[in-house]
Amino acid sequence: MQSTNAPLIPVFTRWFGSWQIRVERRPLHPEALAEAYDRAAPRWTRLTDRLGYGRSYERLFEGLIRRQTLGADAALLRVLDCGVGTGSFSLALARAWRKPMALTAVDLSPAMLAAAEARIRAAGLHARLLEACVCALPFADASFDLVVAAHVLEHLPDPVEALAEIRRVLRPGGQVVACITRHSWLGAYIQAKWRTHRLTREQADRWLCQAGLEPAPVQEPLTGLSGLTSLVAVGHHQQAGAAGPELLF
Ligand SMILES: C[S@@+](CC[C@H](N)C(=O)[O-])C[C@H]1O[C@@H](n2cnc3c(N)ncnc32)[C@H](O)[C@@H]1O
Repeated sequence: MQSTNAPLIPVFTRWFGSWQIRVERRPLHPEALAEAYDRAAPRWTRLTDRLGYGRSYERLFEGLIRRQTLGADAALLRVLDCGVGTGSFSLALARAWRKPMALTAVDLSPAMLAAAEARIRAAGLHARLLEACVCALPFADASFDLVVAAHVLEHLPDPVEALAEIRRVLRPGGQVVACITRHSWLGAYIQAKWRTHRLTREQADRWLCQAGLEPAPVQEPLTGLSGLTSLVAVGHHQQAGAAGPELLF
């Protein structure tokens, strides 16, 4: 049983005159979440591919690479995937990036990690996969150029704590690309099923700012069903004294 002081997930807030009605829910305990994803692992890739997430993730990265300036000296991109699941986000990045990258990934669910390892190996890539929580990353400061995180932050009671940890492991000038469940009817279904946050863009940018990351303007780049369920947030770990963000993409 979680402590009654643990942060809750806001579900619904409305003002009625001077009355405020607020509905909040306790998030799944990390152990229960890991068990739920262990059970989901055997069908996760088939399900998300059928719903078009893999292709949509790939278009997202292609768009980020095409529209923005690519870091010319990023010969070997050091990438961390937080909440890698069965690897769809990392594999989409690898297909779009088409250049060498050193991939590290963490997840709480051993079954998801095993599935990710098999898929990444089958794609001819190599990754360092670890069972770890995004709120306590077992890496030194400034270890990565890019952190990606698809549909993991919304699971956390305190996502800003996780984003601050992501900022710690990013090198100054690095960036984070996150997909998060958005405020929509399908987002409400996901929230009811998985007890997640669901966000507006303003809330996503507020999380980034609170963690000391600078939000980058993003046009909603996701397509199909994933566009209806998810928003994309990009944050920069600003270099001290730099005039503007150094863009990897
Ligand atoms: C919705 S799945 C997304 C998987 C993958 N990123 C994708 O987009 O297909 C969320 C993943 O985050 C993992 N996860 C949840 N909480 C986590 C935490 N605190 N630290 C690391 N991974 C976590 C789950 O085990 C699960 O594999």
